[in-house]
Amino acid sequence: MTKKTRRFNAFGKSILVLLLILGCSVVGFAAEVTFKGPYDDETVQQRDARMAWWREARFGLFIHWGVYAVPAGTHKGEQIENIGEWIMHYGQIPVAEYQQYAKQFNPEKYDPEAWVRMAKDAGMKYIVITAKHHDGFALFDTAASDWNIVEATPYGKDVLKPLAEAARKHGIKLGFYYSQAQDWIHPGGSTWEGRWDPAQEGSMDDYLRDIAVPQVRELFSNYGEVSILWWDTPIDMTPERAAMFDGLVDLQPGIIVNNRLLYGVDGDLRTPEQHIPATGLDYDWEACQTMNTTWGYKSYDDEWKSSEQLIRNLVDVASKGGNYLLNVGPMANGEIPQASIERLKDVGEWMRVNSASIHGTTASPFVRLKWGRATKKEYPNATELFLHVFDWPEDGLLVVDGLRGEVSGAYFMADFQQQIQIDKTQAGVVLQLPDRPLDEIDTVIVLKITGKLDVERILPGQGRDGVLVLAVNDANIHNPGYGGKLERRQDGNSASYLDGWTDYRSRVDWLVRIDKPGTFDVYAEVAAAEPAGFLLLANDGQKPLTVKSTGALQTFQSQRIGQLTLPEGESAIRIHPQESLWNPIMLRSVTLKPVGQSPP
Ligand code: GLC
Repeated sequence: MTKKTRRFNAFGKSILVLLLILGCSVVGFAAEVTFKGPYDDETVQQRDARMAWWREARFGLFIHWGVYAVPAGTHKGEQIENIGEWIMHYGQIPVAEYQQYAKQFNPEKYDPEAWVRMAKDAGMKYIVITAKHHDGFALFDTAASDWNIVEATPYGKDVLKPLAEAARKHGIKLGFYYSQAQDWIHPGGSTWEGRWDPAQEGSMDDYLRDIAVPQVRELFSNYGEVSILWWDTPIDMTPERAAMFDGLVDLQPGIIVNNRLLYGVDGDLRTPEQHIPATGLDYDWEACQTMNTTWGYKSYDDEWKSSEQLIRNLVDVASKGGNYLLNVGPMANGEIPQASIERLKDVGEWMRVNSASIHGTTASPFVRLKWGRATKKEYPNATELFLHVFDWPEDGLLVVDGLRGEVSGAYFMADFQQQIQIDKTQAGVVLQLPDRPLDEIDTVIVLKITGKLDVERILPGQGRDGVLVLAVNDANIHNPGYGGKLERRQDGNSASYLDGWTDYRSRVDWLVRIDKPGTFDVYAEVAAAEPAGFLLLANDGQKPLTVKSTGALQTFQSQRIGQLTLPEGESAIRIHPQESLWNPIMLRSVTLKPVGQSPP
């Protein structure tokens, strides 16, 4: 989702409710306008069986490919800002003018077999490709419109057919991304911020009936097994419009559908875009992410994430129980940018040794591990715990805080022979490791646990005086898909702090344990050039609070910002900036002191 569609999502449910109410008042009774998903009647067991391969896969390849790869971010000599596949929108390019680009879409170097092998070698288990993106261009042969690769380009061939064949041959599942609502070429397709060419005018219902529905039927009929349908940006979709696709999934029994057909409808999986959510989610989710900053190819986007970052992102996602859908944006000649190929090779090298710690694993049983992440595989009377060590302990002692129960063995994925000494302490299990990591990016250690897995939920708690310090190292950081990036930072020996809090949609929360409940004075160690207003939320309650200016964004100061009451047990404490009152701050810590104690 773009930043815009995300906003929609928040309103999605209320819009649906509003529609229902409107529907009720018009016809006088309820249930006229509800949308029934294709799998609403299935049992938990049926659903588990249908989702099984996807849950095991954990890692897939997203491919954004289309006519936008021709301008590659530049229209009429001007670099158009924002994501490459949106160039027609951001450049307000008229329909006929945009369609000229198709004449240069000639992917002679397209090698579907190599694409599939590249994904497979990286340890990916599935591919999702843009069959049609918002520019309405079909990468496949379609009778519904001549705006397709066969009729509108010099290449003249369907590219999905050979990809489907190669995927089948290599045992890789194939899914189609299909932009059902937005279509900037076909009359009646929806657009984000209004239309910019009279040629786009038309009825959305006609467009859905004549273009989108028949094309989805073609995709489900002509390419063998389709494993995923990835809907996107349901702008202007209504329950009735969503219902126009009813019955099509019967053509692909067992197909998995995402949550973007209609706002407020969950589908089989949720799709956090360009960010990795916090831990503890109890639904299926897939984080999709670009390697640079665009989905569709942009010739001058060199902001590549490092291979280390991508590997750790994959591990982070798996440790939280999600899938990672990592994108490439091939060029108009059919080549995948070298920078992407190299990164996937690096990921593949790591996966060759460590894939068992990703595929088929489930979320970490730990709330937090200071040195890295964990994944696990559970068996009837045993568990394999995969410890992903990002930060190698300087003293060679890896403390697995809170791990109780019987550890019957430990070994490195990269070297089964090397001994690891296991000790049990008050804190948990301690492993004696060699001086140097076996893999600088992520050394994986397997712990064999017999019997029931027993892990204590260790949360930051109060000191003896009842004081609770919320350190930035314990904070869960949530950033929006696009926009500011709030992050933890540490300069030299100074305390870490949160920096880059420019976007009001960036949020932070802490999970804490309270054993001496009561009312607390809240102090923040902050730096702020201007006052910044936010909501402090604890469990179900919320309070508007303000950080006062400290004179400059670099000047830290301890401020009392308000009061908070917390009950005994686990609490979630959240900071949500308020859009109209927010100004950037830097934050080192928040301290809660029982009322009556002197300030820190
Ligand atoms: C978005 C964008 C889009 C991209 C997609 C990927 O919603 O509109 O261009 O395809 O998300 O998640």
